[in-house]
Amino acid sequence: MTDPTDVAGTERSDDEDNQVNEPVQAPATDDGATPVARPLRAGEGVLLIDGKQRRYLITLTPGQEFHSHTGFIRHDELIGRSEGVTVRANRSGNFLVLRPTLADYVLKMPRGAQVIYPKDLGPLLMLADIFPGARVLESGVGSGALSMTMLRAGADIAGYELRADFASRAVKNVTAVLGPDVLDRYRVEERDTYEGIDEVDLDRVVLDLPEPWQVTPHAATALRPGGIIVAYTPTIIQAVQFRESLTAHGFAQAETVEVLNRTWHIEGQSVRPDHRMVAHTGFLTHARRVA
Ligand SMILES: C[S@@+](CC[C@H](N)C(=O)[O-])C[C@H]1O[C@@H](n2cnc3c(N)ncnc32)[C@H](O)[C@@H]1O
Repeated sequence: MTDPTDVAGTERSDDEDNQVNEPVQAPATDDGATPVARPLRAGEGVLLIDGKQRRYLITLTPGQEFHSHTGFIRHDELIGRSEGVTVRANRSGNFLVLRPTLADYVLKMPRGAQVIYPKDLGPLLMLADIFPGARVLESGVGSGALSMTMLRAGADIAGYELRADFASRAVKNVTAVLGPDVLDRYRVEERDTYEGIDEVDLDRVVLDLPEPWQVTPHAATALRPGGIIVAYTPTIIQAVQFRESLTAHGFAQAETVEVLNRTWHIEGQSVRPDHRMVAHTGFLTHARRVA
């Protein structure tokens, strides 16, 4: 991601300015998965991007106005237009109008728990090898960022989450982005994953909770042979302890990965790495269950 506000430290600092407090409305998809080319319509979320690349996510509502320091834009001016247009606020300032991507939603949606950022979500999909119909146990589900990423890739998810408020936030976020039909493949239970996993013959176990090593023995019996376990951990100490548990419970092919994402400034003769980058978010550790 190139969003410079997407800064996350070891404790995954909350990016308050970059969030919206209102529930995000479903994107412009008719089946929850396939973007379609049609005019913007009332009820869908759109991004307004100003000249300084500040991004605002609004839900198009007839009669409402979007206000900023450069004046206001009537939602009615946008409804019926095509995305990609540039509109002018009444005082000054142009705004580019685009439908948000999944990464935009993840960064802007209401949060309970801190989310995994897009820079790690993409690689995580590959390391966990998520495929349509994959039977996945995910825990904790937090705000649902990882859930919606895996669901959009076709996974069928049982989610275990300790906190009822986070579980309900995740379900709201996921259905807002992917539509209510996704609940056929997304069930979230309020429970402690350290105490066990009921599912069997799982294809994948994907973890983002403080002590993933407490889940390893349960994953060893819940995963089918060849199944993959992945844990996201903010610190290397957690990754090391998780690796030790993987060895102790007979997992193979373990690897720990850190994803570094450096954007470049490219303007005329000035071609160099950007001064700022997200220096650290977390570590991704993955392994296979063997027979
Ligand atoms: C950092 S958040 C997960 C964020 C999520 N991956 C996302 O992208 O939105 C960690 C979550 O793990 C949950 N959690 C912590 N310990 C747990 C446990 N033993 N069982 C289930 N969930 C747990 C927390 O309540 C919290 O919601």
